[in-house]
Amino acid sequence: MNSAKLIDGKAAAQRVLTQVRADVEQLKAEGIAPALAVILVGQDPASQVYVRNKILRAEEAGIRSLEYRLSAQTSQHTLLTLIAELNADAAVSGILVQLPLPAHIEETRALQAIAPGKDVDGFHSDNVGGLSQGRAVLTPCTPSGCLQLLEEACGDLSGKHAVVIGRSNIVGKPMAALLLKAHCSVTVVHSRSTDAKALCQLADIVVAAVGRPRMIDASWLKPGAVVIDVGINRIDDNGRSRLVGDVDFDSALPQVSAITPVPGGVGPMTIAFLMKNTVTAARQQAHAQRSSPEAACRSIS
Ligand code: GUN
Repeated sequence: MNSAKLIDGKAAAQRVLTQVRADVEQLKAEGIAPALAVILVGQDPASQVYVRNKILRAEEAGIRSLEYRLSAQTSQHTLLTLIAELNADAAVSGILVQLPLPAHIEETRALQAIAPGKDVDGFHSDNVGGLSQGRAVLTPCTPSGCLQLLEEACGDLSGKHAVVIGRSNIVGKPMAALLLKAHCSVTVVHSRSTDAKALCQLADIVVAAVGRPRMIDASWLKPGAVVIDVGINRIDDNGRSRLVGDVDFDSALPQVSAITPVPGGVGPMTIAFLMKNTVTAARQQAHAQRSSPEAACRSIS
């Protein structure tokens, strides 16, 4: 394998986490203790793994974690009450509600209930709107991690043509906004695009976030493209279960100038940026509290 082309997400995430640990030490020296509340409703197996990893990484980074595991039957009212309590708790810096939620709970109601300053996922409409206006707000973790990998692989992204495949609220849309903020020309292709492949062939940068195993092979890619594969798909490979991305890695590798592997690419960056957002939220709350204690209470509750 041509390892020079591999974008090492694990190593990049370690660099982010090293900085996070230093920032946490600094905050603690100032009397600020960052804390992350993670809420999981139900027993979705993948969500359980993600939540466990988030809690572990938080502890490693010196961030206090509060874990709320609620039954799948939890009412929307109970969830909203818990979020309101965490919003009002000055010791909690960040709140994350793991998605997907059970069908009887409205996802938008839950996400909008989180105080924007504690919204370490960047899913509240104030943060979504702020990002689209190019303001410095808390931004979604997976696309923020992808952007960091791209900047490390390509340097200045200004003027490059980026194609984002997929238009989810978690990855595709915020990814497009971040790339636009980084001065790329951005095309978003999705299930209704008339010729997604032809558009993708024009891209200097491809971010694949569709959730379809190995959908994008070399024939989709311009020679020398940089490819970020957000997909994590479990497939049966001759009776053995394994993870593959949305990109057919073996086919794409000879065609690209750089590509993320799955696993070991984007995945570790998502958690690293969650920790980074938690530190940012803690710092901003402390500054707001110092400059105007009453206004700070109003803005987070
Ligand atoms: N489920 C899948 N990805 C995410 C994420 O980035 N944040 C939350 N809260 N839930 C998810």
